[in-house]
Amino acid sequence: MSTIQPRRWPIALVRAFSIITLLQVLLQAALAGGFISGHVGYLTAHSVNGTLLPVTAMFLGLSTVLLFRPGRGPWWPILLSVLLWWMIAIQVGVGFARLVGLHIPLGAAILALTGAFVWWSCGYRPRRVTA
Ligand code: HEM
Repeated sequence: MSTIQPRRWPIALVRAFSIITLLQVLLQAALAGGFISGHVGYLTAHSVNGTLLPVTAMFLGLSTVLLFRPGRGPWWPILLSVLLWWMIAIQVGVGFARLVGLHIPLGAAILALTGAFVWWSCGYRPRRVTA
């Protein structure tokens, strides 16, 4: 029996994309605060950043697939990243439809899930695999 050294780059990708997603979601809340306070131009920035978020979340999802294979990590982050992508996609639709009563709690749920992703990925350590 021999032990295989785990690959470290897949978890580095998951960490990078979860942190970028978290920063974009925090920026969304800050920009929302800006235009609610009367700075109308912030809505355009909120719209652009919000439209880019599904792209970042897609890269996060791809990195969780790479963490599973070839990274030999857990499979469940793939499901969570698919859930997060759908929540963000619905959030964009709800934003353009101006359903603010749904948009704000869904934004808070997205923030919580993204924060949990960052917390988990920064604490995750790849284990040696026995072949
Ligand atoms: C989490 C990610 C978020 C995404 C992807 C997102 C996306 C969007 C989009 C695409 C719009 C439409 C912009 C337009 O009409 O040009 C919008 C509008 C809006 N968003 Fe967000 N948003 C997010 C988070 C938030 C948060 C956290 C808040 C508040 C705390 C917020 C408050 C609003 C408000 C007040 C509007 C304007 C609705 C209106 O025009 O009546 N959003 N959002």
